[in-house]
Parts: sequence; C-alpha cells; structure tokens
Amino acid sequence: MRSIKNICCIGAGYVGGPTMSVIANKCPEINVTVVDINANRIAAWNDEDLDKLPVYEPGLKEIVAESRNKNLFFSTEVDKAIDEADMIFISVNTPTKTYGKGKGEAADLKYIELCARNIARVAKSDKIVVEKSTLPVRTAQAIKDILHNTGNGVKYEVLSNPEFLAEGTAIDDLLNADRVLIGGDDTPSGKEAKNILSGIYEHWLPKERVLQTNLWSSELSKLVANAFLAQRISSINSISALCEVTDANVAEVSKAIGKDSRIGPKFLNASVGFGGSCFQKDILNLVYICKTYGLTEVAEYWDQVIKINDYQKRRFAENIITTLYNTVSGKKIAFYGWAFKKDTNDTRESAAIYVADTLLEEQAEIVVYDPKVSEEQVYADLDYLNTRSEEENRKLVTVVNDPLKAAEDAHAVAILTEWDEFKALDWEQIYNSMFKPAFVFDGRRILDKQIMNQTGFDYYRIGEGK
Ligand code: UDX
Ligand code: ADP
Repeated sequence: MRSIKNICCIGAGYVGGPTMSVIANKCPEINVTVVDINANRIAAWNDEDLDKLPVYEPGLKEIVAESRNKNLFFSTEVDKAIDEADMIFISVNTPTKTYGKGKGEAADLKYIELCARNIARVAKSDKIVVEKSTLPVRTAQAIKDILHNTGNGVKYEVLSNPEFLAEGTAIDDLLNADRVLIGGDDTPSGKEAKNILSGIYEHWLPKERVLQTNLWSSELSKLVANAFLAQRISSINSISALCEVTDANVAEVSKAIGKDSRIGPKFLNASVGFGGSCFQKDILNLVYICKTYGLTEVAEYWDQVIKINDYQKRRFAENIITTLYNTVSGKKIAFYGWAFKKDTNDTRESAAIYVADTLLEEQAEIVVYDPKVSEEQVYADLDYLNTRSEEENRKLVTVVNDPLKAAEDAHAVAILTEWDEFKALDWEQIYNSMFKPAFVFDGRRILDKQIMNQTGFDYYRIGEGK
C-alpha cells in the first residue's frame, strides 16, 4: 500500500483548520499543509499570538502550538502544496446558492469546482482527492469528471470523508469520533485509497470506528445525519410552544422521553432555534435533491424542520414584543450572546441575527455582548440580511465588551447563546441597573427560575409558562 508523506488541505476554515491540526498532531511522519486564498486567514493561523487564530475552539491552540511549523503548515501557496501532496482534502465552503437555479436551497459548488480545476491544472503525480466539505449527493462525480479529463496521465481516486465535528467541541469530536465515514469506489484502486485514508485515522482511533461505504452513501449520510439531528431540535422546539401555553415544562418532558433508550437523552434541549453553518444548509440541500427527483412529499417532510426553526426564532422575538406591552420602539434590549452556540466565535445562521432583525423592525435599540464575537461580525451579519441600511444598523445596534454595561438602563435582557459565564454573572447588580419591571427572556434555559424571580426579574424562558 502507498504511504502518504504529504497532505494538502484546500480551505483553512472551521473544518479544515481543526481537522488538519489534529491529523498533523497524531501523524508526526506526515507533512500537512493547509492552504487558503484568503491571505488574512492564513496570516492569522500563523500568528505568534495563539489567541489570534481565526477559529476559536477549546483545545485547538494547544494542538497548533505543538505541531505548527514542525509538520503543520499554513500557506497561501495553493499550487505548490497541491503539487507536493499525495492526498488532497477539499475543505472549502459550500454555501446555499443566492442566485439562479436552486436559489435558496441548492449548495453553491463553484468553490469546489474551482478547487477541482486547480488540482487538474497543477497535478503531475497521482493523487487521492478527499471531499471534506458537505456536498450534495453525486458531487464526487463532478470532481471525477474534471480530474479525469485532463489527459495528462495523472491518476486520481476521489473519496468522500464527511466531517461530523460540532463546533465548540471540534477537537474532542475529532479525537474521540463516534465514527469516521469513508466513501469511495469499489474498484481495487478505490479500495486501496479508502484503506490508506483509514490508516491515517487509525493513528488514534480503533479500526472498527472507520466505516467504508460507496461514494453516494457517504455523501448522503452526512446530509441525513444533520437532518436527523436538526429534526430532534425542531421536534422539541415545537413541543416547547405547547408547554408554554399549558402547565407542562419542556425540560421535564425532554427528560422523561429521553430516558427511553430508543429515544435517548441527547439533542433534546429546547432553544431559541438551531443555527450554524450546517443544519439549515444541509436540510435545504436534501429538500432540493428530493424535489429534483420528484419526491415532493419527502421534500415537504424535511422542509418542515426548517419551518419550525424559523417559527421558533420568530416566536421568541414576538414574545419579547408582546410582553414589553406591545412596543419595543426606543427600548433598549441587551443581547447576551451572538454566536450560534457556546464555545465558538462562529455566527453563521445564529438565531440571534434573526431575533435582532425582528426587534429592529420594531425600532428597538439592541446592545450586544458576546465573549468571542467582534463588533464587525455583528454588523456584517445584520448588513447581510439587507433589511435596512448599514447606517441604520449602526444607529440601532451597539456592541460592548462588558455584559453589565450592556444591561445598564435596559428594559430587557435576552439570552441568545448559552455561554457558561452568563450563569455566573451578578444578576442582582444587573437587576439594579435596569428599568423596572426588569425582563429577562432566556432563550437557552440556563438560569435558575426561582432565583431570578426572587431577585425581582420578570423571567421568561422557552418551553415553560411564567
Ligand atoms: C452540527 C453537527 O452536530 C455536526 O455533526 C456536523 O458536522 C455539523 O453540524 P454544529 O452546527 O457545529 O454541528 O453544532 P451542534 O452542536 O450540532 O449545534 C447546532 C445548533 O443546534 C446550535 O445552534 C445549538 O445551539 C442547537 N442545539 C443543539 C439546540 O438548540 N438544542 C440541542 O439540544 C442541541
Ligand atoms: P467551513 O466551515 O466549511 O470550514 P469556512 O468558510 O470556514 O467553511 O472555510 C472555507 C475556506 O475555504 C475559506 O477560508 C475560503 O477562503 C477557502 N476557499 C474557498 N475557495 C478556495 C479555493 N479555491 N482555494 C483555496 N481556498 C479556498
């Protein structure tokens, strides 16, 4: 079996960066080069100050510190890294299309195609090309078509190796993966390529955890895994609405149903709605694929998961408006958290963006505090929606770096991200600095209801009557 000496990863984002850092750390005999066309991003990965890495993940900076410039390199020299590599991971972004056919549903594959063309142009020796990005089923075929038609004699094996890490726990998920999925052709060279990639993961995972499938099963499994996970959240969120109008408590319901070993306890936390770069995009993709094959009922079934998620975000915002006497115009609302979940600086599809947008339409003033998200990012997220002018967003929204300051003279605090530090805040001091009645809307159910009520707050949380 061929041995791998050089790996190149195209795309130094939330997936490529952490995944390659762990591979380099666990495989000291392999040189791993992560390349990106974004020079600022590469500079940040190379920054001596490890707190400036472009991705925040617990445990990441320690691993980067150990391996960087030994066998882990970050570079903008894409062609050179492709040329030298035996194995190339494609880990570029595949956002939902914002134009043309499939707009709003299909994945935009232009970045993937550019990578494939780049590899085809540069490669002089045989390569194993691994799809890491989440892709619609049968993308591997497009990559194969581009690579196999260069006529320069280079042989390629295309594998699908979807990433299942969750942000905020990426390093742990990589080190202790439930499973690694490798899809590839069932030809002798395809099987050999799958075994070679499996050998990389076997540096730290037992062989039984590596599943080998055909290409299409692997690509589809990624979409289906995310659709099932998101479906659990939409299911419990739909029940949270029912709990709020009855005397039931969604946490008690989650616990009760999760004890059934057939259901299991994980991913049953009601929230203000799921966010992140994967769930919505992957379900939309699944819906689009089903429609393409004429499977209307299947498409509608999965589309409902997204609809409930949109409903949950809207419901949370509308509850704030109704509770604040049907008007938030000119009222200051403190947002605790902007990231789509705790322990990440990623804000893609974060519920906070949409809740803010609804409240801003009602002319609320919003003051945001998030321990890891920058002011520029908050404005960029709001500007991207195009609901109002950039000036208006800057007039109505302020970003501060102190949660106590955010709450000063506020009518309400809304908790959008479940950062641990919010539980440890001096809530009495917060209460004293706010307008009365002082409202707290807990979209993550992280605070103690009894203590909050005793402190004097009008405390509301998802999935429970007041
Ligand atoms: C997800 C998948 O978990 C991962 O396997 C895949 O590779 C990428 O997509 P990620 O989006 O990073 O990972 O985070 P995840 O932990 O799945 O959370 C997604 C969203 O669901 C977050 O907004 C989170 O707050 C929310 N969530 C999660 C809930 O609202 N309730 C839950 O019980 C769990
Ligand atoms: P993910 O969460 O999937 O990792 P990101 O957006 O965080 O997505 O990262 C994808 C990275 O891929 C970006 O930094 C982007 O600049 C990079 N990228 C996109 N296209 C190319 C390309 N053709 N060559 C090199 N890098 C690319």
